[in-house]
Amino acid sequence: MKKNVLVGVCAGIASYKTCELIRLLVKDNFNVKVIMTESSTKFVTPLVFQTLSNNLVCLDMFSLAKEDGIKHIEITDWTDICVVAPLTANTLSKIANGICDNLLTTVICALPQNKKIIFAPAMNTNMWKNPIIQENVEKLKQLKRYTFLNPAEGVLACGAYGEGRMLEPEEIYKKIQISI
Ligand SMILES: Cc1cc2nc3c(=O)[nH]c(=O)nc-3n(C[C@H](O)[C@H](O)[C@H](O)COP(=O)(O)O)c2cc1C
Repeated sequence: MKKNVLVGVCAGIASYKTCELIRLLVKDNFNVKVIMTESSTKFVTPLVFQTLSNNLVCLDMFSLAKEDGIKHIEITDWTDICVVAPLTANTLSKIANGICDNLLTTVICALPQNKKIIFAPAMNTNMWKNPIIQENVEKLKQLKRYTFLNPAEGVLACGAYGEGRMLEPEEIYKKIQISI
């Protein structure tokens, strides 16, 4: 039976790589639904993810439109595995502190313990190395609930060299395949 993958997208440059991740998942017959943060729509439009996933993209928790479809509790039942790529410093910190102020953070908080959650953080090196962010990463890791695909070292979108690049779509895709 086709497995259901929920892809969360945050507001980072690496979200262009999420298009390829979704393409790979759909090609491999996964059902894919995408939740975007409001800010992430400044990078890649919902139309792109909607077209690639063959499903409506959701970002508004309070939408009354029926066709907007993803209700936060329904989607937790539907999900077999959730991957957030890219995961921003902002959303990572919200999740680590139980903040549920948008559809993505609310769904992640509401996912039952047996649902797998993979995080692919991506950010500037200074953000990644910031002790507050590292403290939040450690806090989440200690819960043994989340799989972290730590960012790689390389040239970042800002031009600097360092740790912070989101893993390549193929690597994230392989992790999803073996986790499911
Ligand atoms: C051009 C640009 C690139 C950005 N890239 C990143 C990034 O890679 N990682 C990150 O954590 N924040 C990045 N930010 C900052 C986030 O977009 C910002 O913190 C935002 O509030 C995150 O929102 P979200 O977590 O709700 O998606 C970037 C901002 C801009 C303007």
